[in-house]
Amino acid sequence: MSADEPEYPSDEVQRRRLTVAGVLSLVLVAIAVIVVGAVAGSASGATSGSHPTSGGSATGTTDDATTTARPAPAEAVAPAAVDTFDKAARSIDDPASIWVVVNKLRPLNPQDYEPDDLVEVPVAHTWSPLMRQEASDAAVTMFQAAADEADLSLASNSAFRSYSTQVDLYGDGDDPTTAPPGASEHQTGLAIDIGAENGCTFECLEDSPEGEWLRANAYRFGFLLRYPADKVDVTGYPHEAWHYRYIGVELATEMHDTGFTTLEEFFGLPPVPLGM
Ligand code: DAL
Ligand code: ZN
Repeated sequence: MSADEPEYPSDEVQRRRLTVAGVLSLVLVAIAVIVVGAVAGSASGATSGSHPTSGGSATGTTDDATTTARPAPAEAVAPAAVDTFDKAARSIDDPASIWVVVNKLRPLNPQDYEPDDLVEVPVAHTWSPLMRQEASDAAVTMFQAAADEADLSLASNSAFRSYSTQVDLYGDGDDPTTAPPGASEHQTGLAIDIGAENGCTFECLEDSPEGEWLRANAYRFGFLLRYPADKVDVTGYPHEAWHYRYIGVELATEMHDTGFTTLEEFFGLPPVPLGM
């Protein structure tokens, strides 16, 4: 070989050059793959980010398909509802409390209690009704709502009854639907026997539109169907479709929402067997 001739690399040198070139090629290819992947990913992210509601539309576009393929975000878990109702907020013993619980095991104290804020309830009636002011106002509102919402005309058949009136009604105690004197809700000025103005009263009310409306709506005005058909061995009285007791909207709504239908069960009081 002459000095002018370019030096031809030896086989060994050529092998090394080829190896280096091969490695460089692989590195370049790998970098290219990474860069392309990153660009594609960022473009996809920007697109799905324009659909904050996620899930995409029902038209099935590419964007939607990308969004749908992602794992669904964890469902937000709503905190368990905490019932903050205070069952001790009012007395259930004081005859002047709108939560007073009166039954054959819990007579009024004093026995001849009489409210000091009785007013005449300005509604249709068969027997001039007196109730405590708050209960009267609620009854008037409820009667008006029955007329406005359902075109029904309610009437009062009995409201406040004094101890002596209950003595007369009770007689020798033959009627299971009449409370002993001193143990009637009517004596609190918070109870009212409701019928229809068309003359459908007492038992008739059960299958009447008026009775049905009252069963569904009375709680909205603070009234409770006090002697339900399926609780005769809790209240101690046969079903009275007509007897509603004012307990205030707060308690009536709480009982409605929690599924309680008797004051005895709601306040954890002893049941009163029918016929006691
Ligand atoms: N009818 C109900 C129980 C009362 O006499 O008070
Ligand atoms: Zn009654």
